[in-house]
Amino acid sequence: MDWLRIPSVSTQPKHKGDCERAAAWAADRLRECGLSVEVLPTGEPPGSGHPVVLAEAPGAAGYRGPHVLFYGHYDVQPPEPLELWESPPFEPVIRPASGEVGERIVARGAVDDKGQVAAFLEALRAWRENGKLANGQMSKSGESVAAGVRLTVLLEGEEESGSVNLERFVEQHAERLGRCDVCVISDTGMLGRGRPAITYGIRGLTYTEVILHGPNQDLHSGLWGGRCPNPINELVKVLAGLWDKDRRVTIPGFYDDVRELTAEEREGWRRLGFDAADALRKIGLPPEADVGEAGFTAMEREWGRPTCDINGIVGGYTGEGAKTVIASHASAKVSFRLVADQDPAKVTASFFAWMRERTPPGCRWEFIEHGGGFPATVPTDSPTLRAARRALERAAGRAPDLIKSGGSIPVAGLLKQRLGLDTVFMGFGLDDDRVHSPNEKFELECFRMGARAHVALLDELARMGEGTRAAPA
Ligand code: BES
Ligand code: MN
Ligand code: MN
Repeated sequence: MDWLRIPSVSTQPKHKGDCERAAAWAADRLRECGLSVEVLPTGEPPGSGHPVVLAEAPGAAGYRGPHVLFYGHYDVQPPEPLELWESPPFEPVIRPASGEVGERIVARGAVDDKGQVAAFLEALRAWRENGKLANGQMSKSGESVAAGVRLTVLLEGEEESGSVNLERFVEQHAERLGRCDVCVISDTGMLGRGRPAITYGIRGLTYTEVILHGPNQDLHSGLWGGRCPNPINELVKVLAGLWDKDRRVTIPGFYDDVRELTAEEREGWRRLGFDAADALRKIGLPPEADVGEAGFTAMEREWGRPTCDINGIVGGYTGEGAKTVIASHASAKVSFRLVADQDPAKVTASFFAWMRERTPPGCRWEFIEHGGGFPATVPTDSPTLRAARRALERAAGRAPDLIKSGGSIPVAGLLKQRLGLDTVFMGFGLDDDRVHSPNEKFELECFRMGARAHVALLDELARMGEGTRAAPA
């Protein structure tokens, strides 16, 4: 609750101090658990970005499991539109169960990602307070850390704004981070209540902004309409050409690097019993709204196919009433979700080239890149993933679903690209949690499952003994 009260909105400069406070809050909790903690500046010049919290538990002498990198993010999405919140976004409240929804905590960041990181922090705290070591012995109070597990914790403050400074950070700390064997992230969801899940793949992203500049001033649309280009008209005409009638992206080569889905994968997903019509109903849409790239189911489109979306579009007069004006410019935020083996930089370049070829007469484009990341698909049979499966089964009383997600977490692709690390995504969100929306919530039942699962995971790791290297004595 204290952490959620800090409005650590990474994308808005006025919240820079709040991001620093949110980092410091997490650093204090990790210190209380006995980890050695640093709060490190990011960006160029250093400090221009939001800090990274980097913490370490050295591991017990006999620990032979993997060195796990736990990643989470303390930044949150902007809370706007404020008027749609039933209680203020940074004044967390616990609402009682009602109808379909259980007891839940409502606040910006409740599930994405402070609440999920907090579940992990609770697990560390439990290990610390029980003073229990990996082999089941009791330590002298105060000296035990996380089951004797060798652990690095990295909490980022710019995930929600595209992780623009993370690549440099990972390079600067490549030696330390490279000592880790595998990454664990709790920032994804499950298929339903009480139904644990491991996510073995997420999509990549490239996020851009395009601005079309026309006349050097706003104009009277009676005097100028029909005499010169209207940047809004021209922009929407160009953007509308991004999809064909089958809702496939029209940029040449866009699908060239896309890894085709295998028949086995499609069959495995089908067996998960996802109800596309029911999901649509919950967002107020009829079954015929199940639209997207032709030839694929909703789940295949979310988990295994790339997409293009306009995330915002502005131009001209948007205030009350009418104003007859031709605006000097118009802009749109355009992003692409990517799948293995697409490369965000390559997609961005081909998108900009495609736009340039369609420059309306007399107009000029301005292109801005807002970051993103590579897609990440991980093997489903790694020792750590199997440990996570056992941990979830212990925590939830049933075997986890193996799922993918259409969301993106830039660090995962970076760790794979730069350091060769795979990630196990063990998340506890539900699809009605309203991530990034007003009234974001996290069910306490999910939070508690998360805390139990992380306790069990630390235990499973400590028992593994098949890691690639032992901790130093
Ligand atoms: N936690 C989400 C991503 C997510 C949500 C993955 C649910 C799987 C299930 C993350 O915080 C997020 O929102 N990522 C952004 C990335 C971006 C801003 C670079 C996204 O996916 O839009
Ligand atoms: Mn997140
Ligand atoms: Mn998010």
